[in-house]
Amino acid sequence: MKNLSLYLPTRYYFGYNSIDILGEKARGLGKKAFLVTGKRFLKEKGFLDRIFSNLREKVIDFVHYDNITPNPKVDEVDQGAEIAREQGCDFIIGIGGGSVMDASKGIAIVVKNKGSIWDYMMLQREPERGALPIILVSTIPASGSEYNPGGVITHSGEKKKWFFRSDYTYPQISIVDPQFTEHLSFFYLAAGSIDMITHMLEPFLSAEEEGYIPNRFAVLLIKGAMEMTLRIKNNPADKEARVNLCYISSLALCGIPTRGIGGSAMMHWVEHVLSGFYDNISHPVGLAMLLVPFIRVMKQKFPENIKRFENIYGIDDIEELFKSYLEKTGLLISIKEYGVERSDIDRMVREYGLLTEKFPNFGLDKIEIENIRRIYTESYDLSYIS
Ligand SMILES: [Fe+2]
Repeated sequence: MKNLSLYLPTRYYFGYNSIDILGEKARGLGKKAFLVTGKRFLKEKGFLDRIFSNLREKVIDFVHYDNITPNPKVDEVDQGAEIAREQGCDFIIGIGGGSVMDASKGIAIVVKNKGSIWDYMMLQREPERGALPIILVSTIPASGSEYNPGGVITHSGEKKKWFFRSDYTYPQISIVDPQFTEHLSFFYLAAGSIDMITHMLEPFLSAEEEGYIPNRFAVLLIKGAMEMTLRIKNNPADKEARVNLCYISSLALCGIPTRGIGGSAMMHWVEHVLSGFYDNISHPVGLAMLLVPFIRVMKQKFPENIKRFENIYGIDDIEELFKSYLEKTGLLISIKEYGVERSDIDRMVREYGLLTEKFPNFGLDKIEIENIRRIYTESYDLSYIS
């Protein structure tokens, strides 16, 4: 195993009904909160009133901003930061899935540093003046954003979906309440499981070295994610499965199952390019579409990593494992079904190539450009299904 570093400064609260400790935990983080949410989910499912009264009970003054959409955009973050600054908010509460949590971190940076969140993407610039303190409540097990400092933001004009990360954007406090999952469709929940799985699978399959603990921890969590998702499919009342799935989501991208092996997240970048072009494709669904074609390329490129995965997992064929999981969860879908034009594959491949050149340290060139084309092409019409 390679040398590694870990930094996990987030105070993490987990469990059913933990949403009700939000007000108590938010006290002391600042005088006035900027409460960031999406438009509909919390309101429609009746959580918003519960959150408002919880905050008021603890005398937390707040301004509510609900202008965050899936695949959050630069202007939603920049506009939020402007309002937060005008209103004198001095800490951020973000409640939602990955989009809301990522946007909340972006707002926390822009309030302190001015300019646009786009100035801080791809590690090109550090937010020198830090970021506002952040408290997150995760409503969807998928991104793991509640337990890491990263965020992904889309620039619609440029059709780019890039990321930022800084030690300042670790949430100071995170709350994960599995009861939110009871209000998500199974399709959504299953797609989220692919997000957490690929956070660990990509580094594993592209690793430069074996890591006894990271490898086994990753397989344990990947196996758990699939098992728990299928348990929920069979019995939506299975609370223990919901608890485990949410915990796996937070652990997947915290660093422990992925560091020390020299792996990269290429498939995430293949997906970011895809949903950068096609905003109607959500990140987890895009990953599900690309998963098997990605594994097929990795089989050729890194056969020893594939073997290691299969041995630890106790299976003969990794491709079959995930193909069958996608089938069982209704996620064996093509990018064509989501309106992707075959003629855009060239443009997407070119965009991936530009990323590889511009950011040579991200390990994106572990797959040649022709193999990137193969992934999009096989995802286009599911031509790999015999
Ligand atoms: Fe992801």
